Amino acid sequence: MEFLKDHLPTVRRSLLSVPAANRRALEKAPGLDCDAVIYDLEDSVAPDAKAEARSNLVRAFETAGSSRQERIIRINSLASGFGRQDLDLVVTVGPDAVLIPKVESVSDIVEVSEILAASDRADAIAIWAMIETPKGVLNAASIAADAKRPGCFVVGLNDLRKETGVLPQPGRAYLVPWLMQVVLAGRAHGVDVIDSVFNDFRDEPGFDAECAQGRAMGFSGKMLIHPSQIEPANRHFGPDPQSIADAEEIVAAFQKPEAKGLNVISIDGNMVERLHLVEAEKLLAQAKLIAERKNAP
Ligand code: COA
Ligand code: MG
Repeated sequence: MEFLKDHLPTVRRSLLSVPAANRRALEKAPGLDCDAVIYDLEDSVAPDAKAEARSNLVRAFETAGSSRQERIIRINSLASGFGRQDLDLVVTVGPDAVLIPKVESVSDIVEVSEILAASDRADAIAIWAMIETPKGVLNAASIAADAKRPGCFVVGLNDLRKETGVLPQPGRAYLVPWLMQVVLAGRAHGVDVIDSVFNDFRDEPGFDAECAQGRAMGFSGKMLIHPSQIEPANRHFGPDPQSIADAEEIVAAFQKPEAKGLNVISIDGNMVERLHLVEAEKLLAQAKLIAERKNAP
C-alpha cells in the first residue's frame, strides 16, 4: 500500500472535553463513542477545585484501565502556578498526550518537554498545543516546525475571540483566515489540527454546519463540550459510505493489470492519479480503524 508505507492512520474526529472537577462526567467519559477524551484541569476547573480535580483524575485513570479512546490531559500553564503539579500528575497517570493551553512560542513547548524529560514516561507522552491567542496563531508555523514530538494543535476560539474582539457569527467569516493559517502550519510539519469547541450545544443545525465547515477546511476533527456533539462530529469528520465506495473503486482500478506502470488513469470521466490512490488508501485505513474500534469490547 502506498499510504501505509510511511504513515499509520489516526482517527481524531471527536475529542470530548471533560472537566476533571466533574466526577459524574468523568465516570461517563470512557463509555462514550468519542475518539479522544481531553481531561481538563484548566479553564473548566475553578482555582479552589484544582487539587481535587487532580485526585479525581488519578482515580479515573486507575479505574478505566486500558482505553480505546486517546486520552489527553489539558494542564494549566506553568505561569498560572498550577501547571507544575499538573505535570506531576501527568507523569503519574501517563496519558497519551498533555495539552498545553495558550501556547504562543516554541519555548512554551520546550519548558514542558524539559520537565517531562526527567521522567521515564516522557517518550510515551506526546505534547499537544492549544492555539488560542493572537501570538499563537501568528507563530503557529514556527511552533509546528520546532515541536519535538508528533503532536497536535487544538484551536481555541473562545480565548481568541476574547483577545481579538472578533464576534461569534455563523460561518466564522472573520476567523477563517486565521483558522486556515493554523491548518496550513500544522500540515506543513505533520502536526494534526483540531477545530475549536462550539458553545451552544443545543443548537444542532448550527453545530452541523460548523462541523461541515471544519471538515471542508481540512481539520481532522472537533473539540467537543457535550456528549450530544459526538455523533454529529463522528459523522462529519469520518469517511461516509459514498467516499468509502469511491476509495474502493480507485484501489481496485489501480490493481487491474492494465493500470500497471501507469501514474494516471480515468474512472467515469475523472482523472485519477496515484496521489488519489494514496488518499483512498488512507481513507480506507481510517474506516477500518473506526470499524475495529466500534467492535472493540
Ligand atoms: N463529558 C462527559 N459527560 C458530560 C459532559 C462532558 N463534557 N457534559 C455533560 N455530560 C453528561 C452529564 O453529566 C449528564 O449526564 P447524566 O444525565 O447521566 O447525569 C448528561 O451528559 C447530560 O448533561 P446536560 O444536563 O445536558 O448538561 P449539563 O447542564 O450538566 O452540562 C456543560 C453542560 C456545558 C456545563 C457541560 O456539558 C460541560 O461541563 N462541558 C464541558 C466544558 C469544558 O470542558 N470546558 C472547557 C473546554 S472549552
Ligand atoms: Mg482556552
